[in-house]
Amino acid sequence: MCVCGELLVSWRCVVLLSLRLLFLVPAGLPVRSQGDPQSDNRVMDNITVRQGETVFLRCPQGNIVTHTAWLNRSSILYAGEDKWSVDPRVSLVALSQEEFTIRIENVDIPDEGQYICAVQTRSRPRTTSVHIIVQVPPKILHLSKDLVVNEGANVTLLCLANGKPEPSITWKLVSPVAHGFASEDEYLEIPAISRHKAGTYECTAVNEVSADVQTMKIVVNYPPSVSESRDVGVSVGQQAILQCVAEAEPPADFEWYRDDRRIFNGFDGIQIDNTGKLSVLMFFNVSEVDYGNYTCVATNKLGSANTSAVLYEVIEPTSSTLLQGPGAVQDGNCGNMGAHASLCLLVVIAVQLLLKF
Ligand SMILES: *[C@@H]1O[C@H](CO)[C@@H](O)[C@H](O)[C@H]1NC(C)=O
Ligand SMILES: *[C@@H]1O[C@H](CO)[C@@H](O)[C@H](O)[C@H]1NC(C)=O
Ligand SMILES: *[C@@H]1O[C@H](CO)[C@@H](O)[C@H](O)[C@H]1NC(C)=O
Ligand SMILES: *[C@@H]1O[C@H](CO)[C@@H](O)[C@H](O)[C@H]1NC(C)=O
Ligand SMILES: *[C@@H]1O[C@H](CO)[C@@H](O)[C@H](O)[C@H]1NC(C)=O
Ligand SMILES: *[C@@H]1O[C@H](CO)[C@@H](O)[C@H](O)[C@H]1NC(C)=O
Repeated sequence: MCVCGELLVSWRCVVLLSLRLLFLVPAGLPVRSQGDPQSDNRVMDNITVRQGETVFLRCPQGNIVTHTAWLNRSSILYAGEDKWSVDPRVSLVALSQEEFTIRIENVDIPDEGQYICAVQTRSRPRTTSVHIIVQVPPKILHLSKDLVVNEGANVTLLCLANGKPEPSITWKLVSPVAHGFASEDEYLEIPAISRHKAGTYECTAVNEVSADVQTMKIVVNYPPSVSESRDVGVSVGQQAILQCVAEAEPPADFEWYRDDRRIFNGFDGIQIDNTGKLSVLMFFNVSEVDYGNYTCVATNKLGSANTSAVLYEVIEPTSSTLLQGPGAVQDGNCGNMGAHASLCLLVVIAVQLLLKF
């Protein structure tokens, strides 16, 4: 009987036992060790195949082959042209004096492992083994959901993927600006997140087969901050614009005040126009009572900020007054432009439109 003491050669024992079971090998034939010149055990190059593909297992035969079989570990797939495997994916391709080839379709991970072709000739048994390696494209299984956080929060993002070989995972901030800010790990830790780290994050899982890429978004909320408004000088009867720019997330709501009195849209020939981070206060026909101190208050759920600007009178245009005070002609001031007032206003509005982006 076969005595298979050593685990290392156990597969060979299994082959011989199987062949004996098939009455392929005379019962008295001793199991030969690897060094035995009378047996012949070859190892073929590994076959690497992608999940879902078809693999062909080809085994050279010879002139005086009496019996031959393909085995998957210890189970016989084919003994000669008799199919032993019940797996419909396994089929015979060729059985001749030259070759004994079988095919496994739609290969999957459990198919990975050693396959052995056992050949019995009149003189001695021969085995050929081949290792099938199954590769699987990476797939991202879990990605952190889109997040809305307050500035200063500690954020941890997670991206889990599988695949064979094990995919490597990288995190990147890709928009609004690619920051070169990245992690080569399943986890991306962002301690005390700042508004500059808001945006679209991309997780990439890549292995030899291919890559899987998915994105998620982080919105970072922060209270408004307003930039200093400029005072505007204008003469009676002209148009004027006061403007207020607030950085905020979520975007700020704006309110305008003249001293302590709230100004409402369309009231007293004044129009308030809010777009994104910009609010403008438009005077269509400035009169004496309009001169004064105006305050813009920008508010969101995290806080508020304000800035003030003075609308002051400029004496009717003469070349000397134009040269007088430094703030006499300012951004947003179309008062001194005379006949070009509406053209100037257009330019100012165009500049403001650009500011909105
Ligand atoms: C074949 O694959 C096995 C298992 O991954 C590995 O141990 C062996 O070194 C490989 N052999 C060759 C020749 O690449
Ligand atoms: C090979 O054997 C393994 C383990 O028994 C099994 O899961 C797999 O389906 C088999 N593959 C084929 C092609 O027979
Ligand atoms: C963020 O983590 C640091 C260090 O672990 C901790 O000191 C801080 O309190 C955390 N901040 C928040 C908002 O949880
Ligand atoms: C501006 O207002 C003044 C006084 O109310 C008026 O006389 C003048 O016609 C107005 N100008 C325009 C362009 O509406
Ligand atoms: C305008 O009003 C604000 C708020 O009331 C005040 O802080 C600021 O000093 C005033 N500016 C001028 C020039 O009076
Ligand atoms: C404007 O901001 C200051 C602090 O920066 C605050 O004291 C003041 O109350 C604010 N004014 C308004 C009208 O919100």
